[in-house]
This record gives sequence, C-alpha cells and structure tokens, in this order.
Amino acid sequence: MQVSYAEGSYIYDQNNKSYLDFVAGVSACSLGHRHPKIVSAIKAQLDKYLHVMVYGEYIQEPAVALCKLLAQHLPKPLESTYLTNSGTEAIEGALKLAKRFTGRSQIVAAKKAYHGNTMGAMSVLGIEKQKQAFRPLIPDVHFIEFNNESHLEQITTKTAAVILETIQGGAGFIEPKQNYLQKVRQRCNAAGAILILDEIQTGIGRTGKLFGFEHYNCVPDVVVTGKGLGGGLPIGAFTASKEMMDCLMDNPKLGHITTFGGNPVIAAAALATLKEITSTNLIAETLEKEALIREHLVHPLIKEIHGKGLMIAAILSSSEIANQVILKCQDAGMILFWLLFEPRAIRITPPLTISNQDLIKGCNIIKEVLNSLKN
Ligand SMILES: Cc1ncc(COP(=O)(O)O)c(C=O)c1O
Repeated sequence: MQVSYAEGSYIYDQNNKSYLDFVAGVSACSLGHRHPKIVSAIKAQLDKYLHVMVYGEYIQEPAVALCKLLAQHLPKPLESTYLTNSGTEAIEGALKLAKRFTGRSQIVAAKKAYHGNTMGAMSVLGIEKQKQAFRPLIPDVHFIEFNNESHLEQITTKTAAVILETIQGGAGFIEPKQNYLQKVRQRCNAAGAILILDEIQTGIGRTGKLFGFEHYNCVPDVVVTGKGLGGGLPIGAFTASKEMMDCLMDNPKLGHITTFGGNPVIAAAALATLKEITSTNLIAETLEKEALIREHLVHPLIKEIHGKGLMIAAILSSSEIANQVILKCQDAGMILFWLLFEPRAIRITPPLTISNQDLIKGCNIIKEVLNSLKN
C-alpha cells in the first residue's frame, strides 16, 4: 500500500481506498493523523524559526514550554526533562544518567523487554536471538523475569539501575501483577538503585492515565517517554529530578548532547499534543474505549485480550491465524500490526481520538475476517 494522505483515524492509498488505522504509527499518532491543533502549531513554528542551537545557549520557547508542562503533570521529584530525537536515544540517556549518578555499572532489565535498537537499548533488550548478531553489547547487564517477585533479590548495591517497561509491549502487552512495580520500587530504594520506567509506549494517555505508572502506585526515578508525545513527529524524552539530571553537566561536561534534540518544530508539535491530551477528556475516554473493545472483540478464535486503555493485544489461537488476520484486514480496509515477541498477538493501538463508531467498525471487520478463516 502506498500512502497518499492521512486524516483522523484513516490512511488513504493512491486509489483513494481508506484504511481504518488501528495502529496509529505504532502508538505514536495519539491524536490521529494531522490533528488540526498539531498542524497549526507546526505551521506557526515554521514561520518563526526551524533549527538554531539546542545546547542551551539559546532559549527556545517550544522546548521550554513542553518541559514545563511535562513537569506540571509529573509527580515530584520528576521535574527536569532532556529532549531527544527518538525513544531509543532517551533510553541511552537514562542509562547513562543512572550510571553517572550512582557510580555503578550494573543494569538490571527484564526478559522479553523492548527498549529500542541502539547499542545501549539493545543491551537491555530481553530476547537473546534478537541481539546475538550484534554482540558484544554493553557489559554488566543482568536479566530478571518480569512479574517474578523472587528475582528481585538480584537487585543489589552493585545495581546502578533497574529498567522496565511499565507494561511489557513486545512481550504481549503484559501488565505488572500483584503490586510488582511497588515491590521493585522498594527493592531499588533498599539497594540505592535507580528505577527507570520506560513509558515510551504506555505514556501520554495511551493506557487511560497520563503515565502508565499512575495505575500501579509507583513513581520511578527516571521516566522515559517518546512516541505519542510527538503527535506524529520524532521525539524522545527522559525526565528525572533536577539534582539527578544536573550531574550530566559535569565530569564530564556535556555528558549527553545531541544536535537536534529539542528541535523547535518538533517541540511545538509535542506541546500542542500534550496540551490537547491534558486539557480534554481524552484520557478518561480511553478507558471507556477499552471496555468497548473488550465487549465487541469476542470470538472463539480470540483466546485472550491483554493490555490497558488503547494499548490492547488480542491473542489468537495461533500465530498463523494472527498473521492472516493482519494481512486480510488490510485487504478489508483496516490496519493492524504484529507484536515483536508474541506471534499470536494482533496489536490494537488506535489513535486516542478514534470514535466509538470506528472502534466498533474495526472490531466487526476483525470478527468478519476471523469468520472467513473458520469456514
Ligand atoms: C517500550 C519502548 N521503548 C523504546 C522504544 C524505542 O523508541 P523509538 O522507536 O522511538 O526509538 C519503543 C518503540 O517501539 C518502545 O515501544
């Protein structure tokens, strides 16, 4: 399919065929395609200035306002944000920050975790097959099982940071169970280790809270965001206390730098996105939309529904069926996608702005395709 244009919850091909978008650029287009407030914020910024300098010498209002708004909505002491070009770069920054702050080297990560594809992020990726070809990666990374409380004793005074996705994405949208994140938090406190939560997919309203960790009563030391923050433009961000973040300015100076991080056009788009999400009812509606999906997506070939808000994975009876559904739904005018490490899953991460009517329409298309496979 060659994309011609996209608007709201739909993408159109060159023959003007419409595709209902149940993926939203892999959880990135939270306000759908070309949301008017995002487009006008970008256009207004284009008329002022594009790239100038980002190292702090020149104050640029879009980036400053974005970081302030993030701080206003984050619990204390998460108040200081570093803007990057992508989610994976923000993970690199968060890992470096934890090492620099603690003076320790060990990173504890979870099996089946996904945090991005650069060398540091790939080092904490929890599927060996996916990274073997690129070894050696960074040393002193230790893996524990997500949701396995007995593994938490492996977090020790040698640990610089524990990094987890708030809800494991590639693994099948697996939620933390039985206060797992709170227990991780307690163990990190006891060991003096930094807790990094990767909210690149769960953040910015997708799960029915602005940040996924709000569901689980656990405040991290560093929160990493990206994807949905950019409103369709590339972005990443890591946020920590000012005390912690300041250590990147010294010994060495310029502890993390990037030419384009905080780019004013991207920051303007992100600011418009965050303002819209935090000033409307979209986040609460996300939970109502989850309930609607769970009500309508019932079929004998759907074995389980995982996830929260508009981060839903339907687990089908086999990977072959999941594959066929994804391909046939595209023929039927609807976009679905795979998850990285759970081949029986279909990804349902539509724009938060999707209408109830389109949600039900999408669920019906999936069921029709499933019926056609049964016969
Ligand atoms: C949980 C998580 N972390 C990190 C990343 C990497 O972000 P990016 O692709 O913007 O580098 C992703 C992207 O899929 C993600 O889902």
